[in-house]
Amino acid sequence: MLNLKNIDAGYGKKQVLSNVSAEFKSSAITVVMGPNGAGKSTLLKAAFGLLKPYKGEILFEDLPIKATPQMFVKKGVFMGPQGRRVFQNMTVQENIELATHFWKSRTDFETAFERVLSYFEELKPFLKLPAGNLSGGQQQMVALARIFINKPKMVLLDEPSIGLSPKLINDTFFKIKEMKEKTGTAFVVVEHNLKTLLPLTDFAYILKDGRVVYNGKSEGRILEKMMQAVFE
Ligand SMILES: Nc1ncnc2c1ncn2[C@@H]1O[C@H](COP(=O)(O)OP(=O)(O)OP(=O)(O)O)[C@@H](O)[C@H]1O
Ligand SMILES: [Mg+2]
Repeated sequence: MLNLKNIDAGYGKKQVLSNVSAEFKSSAITVVMGPNGAGKSTLLKAAFGLLKPYKGEILFEDLPIKATPQMFVKKGVFMGPQGRRVFQNMTVQENIELATHFWKSRTDFETAFERVLSYFEELKPFLKLPAGNLSGGQQQMVALARIFINKPKMVLLDEPSIGLSPKLINDTFFKIKEMKEKTGTAFVVVEHNLKTLLPLTDFAYILKDGRVVYNGKSEGRILEKMMQAVFE
């Protein structure tokens, strides 16, 4: 669905990514792992058009495109705010409603709102509370609900686990998997090291020093060996 081909990218003279190719498939969860500074966030920024590569090509649904965030949003690709940012003083409902301007009418919006609540039933009791009163895990659900009201085809998330306890990280990944299964949405999730949660994902990339050192299914001996080589 979203393909990066031979991407070199970085910041001014500091090149970070070298000849990175990646294929993020539809209706699948692809995780991008790697040590701090490996270039994971840079890869996600380039994939979403927030950073213009020095070289290489980006294809969406098999067509070369000029990647910009505006273009991606039109096509149904959304990037989650880093560290699940929600507006603390706004209510949960207001946070989810922020995207209202996408809708032609109030009725359309209300239908979308009802639908998203059916996916995030756990938020129903908190709709009128300031989002800042919710736990980290619940705020994560608000951030995801805000994306899902837009019926995304693909969601890009940069380290959704930051600041969450192991239990809440688990909950987040189960939710991601559930949303993939219920809606067919594709996810690209950047995580430092996701060992125990890998079985919930479909494909994995490991980046090291700006290069892809593994890509393939999120299972099996080769991945295990690569994880050992990179992280231990
Ligand atoms: N805006 C920037 N300007 C200059 N250099 C940057 C900028 N952002 C990141 N870098 C550098 O690019 C390299 C890759 O950073 P990046 O944020 O992509 O790594 P990462 O894999 O996401 O790391 P982490 O796990 O710590 O989030 C690092 O050396 C970093 O210092
Ligand atoms: Mg990062």
